[in-house]
Amino acid sequence: MKHLNYKFSNSSTDFYLAYGISHLKEITDRQATVLITDENVYNAHSKRFKGWNVIILKAGEEYKVQATVDAVIEQLIEMEADRKTTLVGVGGGVITDITGYVASVYMRGLRFGFVPTSLLAMVDASIGGKNGIDVGVYKNMVGMIRQPAFILHDMSLLNTLPQREWENGFAEIIKHACIKDAAMFKQLEENSFKIYQNRKKSVCELIQRNAILKTRVIQQDEFEKGERRLLNFGHTLGHALENQYELLHGQAVSIGMTYACHISEQLTEFKQTEKVVNVLEKYGLPTYASFNKQKVFDILKMDKKREKKEMNYVLLEKIGKGVVRSISLNHLANIIDNF
Ligand SMILES: NC(=O)c1ccc[n+]([C@@H]2O[C@H](COP(=O)([O-])OP(=O)(O)OC[C@H]3O[C@@H](n4cnc5c(N)ncnc54)[C@H](O)[C@@H]3O)[C@@H](O)[C@H]2O)c1
Ligand SMILES: [Zn+2]
Repeated sequence: MKHLNYKFSNSSTDFYLAYGISHLKEITDRQATVLITDENVYNAHSKRFKGWNVIILKAGEEYKVQATVDAVIEQLIEMEADRKTTLVGVGGGVITDITGYVASVYMRGLRFGFVPTSLLAMVDASIGGKNGIDVGVYKNMVGMIRQPAFILHDMSLLNTLPQREWENGFAEIIKHACIKDAAMFKQLEENSFKIYQNRKKSVCELIQRNAILKTRVIQQDEFEKGERRLLNFGHTLGHALENQYELLHGQAVSIGMTYACHISEQLTEFKQTEKVVNVLEKYGLPTYASFNKQKVFDILKMDKKREKKEMNYVLLEKIGKGVVRSISLNHLANIIDNF
């Protein structure tokens, strides 16, 4: 069990790493707390929810939309939730994104925390305070940056995580390695799913290393003026594919990283695409895909990293060193056309 506190520009987050969810009652007052979860997590762990106020949502990215937010708000009103209420998202990234968003708009803002239950949410989605929802095919189009008061990891929750969701989570881990951590990349090359899944200690260490890596990036650049942009590696194309082709977030990002490597080969000195592709495939992720280039480009150009006619694209100089380059939309359309 490890308790850490990380400060951000105007708030701080308590991390309770490798705790049990049973400790939640020591962190937040049961009576004044509402847990938000999805059906899968609730059904797999219903005992853990006993004695708590719970809102259960349908599972899946298609529910990360305003209609769900409205439904949650109505339930909060029914429960007479007030400004002293704490919301805790217990689930994957869809649940943590929705919970942070609702908590930031209900009565102009409640305290909130997360118990991430998927690998992806533990290493990525629960960290950094980006809370938001999708609008049709446009990912995370609406939302805000606001940090959770606490994040609690209970490793035993992962026992029920389906295999494809493990793969999904490794996409963001490989992303972190590519942009910032060559040593971790090497470790991923040498290890395998089996090794991580059979050795509780190694997966626990991997999760903490990633959670801390992301947290440090956010501390340096909470509002994404520079360094934080690196975390979008694979996400510009990835987001354009995700809802259009109903991919898992990690799968979409994996394809996005593959093509971002190829763009890097053209625009930086990058020469290690094959290594990245091999690691992605080793962890069960898709790399090359055929897609409707026009349709995907039309969605891609609405990405939040666009500034007028230029897109800030995250590329690699080498494994472990991400960089941001501005590419004109015309040039980008050209590159994508030639994939
Ligand atoms: N805010 C951010 O900074 C950030 C970063 C990365 C990703 N995201 C968002 O996160 C989402 C993806 O997160 P995700 O992959 O966790 O998706 P998710 O929340 O849909 O969870 C994946 C699936 O696993 C199930 N599940 C989760 N935990 C489980 C458990 N312990 N046992 C059994 N089943 C379990 C869920 O019910 C769901 O079906 C995307 O919407 C993405 O945009 C946000
Ligand atoms: Zn992501």
